[in-house]
Amino acid sequence: MAESPAAETVEPLFSSQEIARRIDALAGDIAACDLHDPLIVAVLKGSFMFAADLIRALHGHGLTPEIDFVFLASYGESTTGGEVKILRDVTSAIEGRDVVIVDDILDTGQTLDFAKSLIKSRGARSVRACILLDKTARRQVDVTADFTGFACPDKFVVGYGMDLGHRYRELPFIGLVKSED
Ligand code: IMP
Ligand code: MG
Repeated sequence: MAESPAAETVEPLFSSQEIARRIDALAGDIAACDLHDPLIVAVLKGSFMFAADLIRALHGHGLTPEIDFVFLASYGESTTGGEVKILRDVTSAIEGRDVVIVDDILDTGQTLDFAKSLIKSRGARSVRACILLDKTARRQVDVTADFTGFACPDKFVVGYGMDLGHRYRELPFIGLVKSED
């Protein structure tokens, strides 16, 4: 008979109310930058829920940005410097615009570093980054975000768009996976 996986539970780390409050503050900070022809570029898949809430909060702060998506994937050992590949590129015009890249977690920094270089190379007037969680402990590349939701412990988190083996993205909160064995 097939072994059933070890029982897992998700221990809440940031509630949906905490996330919503923080996102409203982030939107206020972004709106205060007085962006020219703003373009939001959300990095798939992990940032889809964050980006959806952030742009609605931006609307509340009077911004009318265009939204696009880039689907990036890291290959190889992320702990030893894997390569980032584009699975789906941005299609919007970027030249001369103020771009805000939105991602779920800043971890080693490879993904954000790659995304920032990509957008700069397409002629953006400015490139900023807004990330929900910052795992500073694991940084390998010298890259910073302009807007950060929360400092994140050096633990694997799931929910609110983030997955563990394709599971847990649907959770409305962010939590830590605990194995019960
Ligand atoms: P980086 O290139 O190492 O900075 O990787 C950032 C990406 O790794 C994030 O956008 C996430 O997709 C993924 N990631 C890093 N840590 C976690 C985690 O704890 N849970 C889920 N995804 C994570
Ligand atoms: Mg990601």
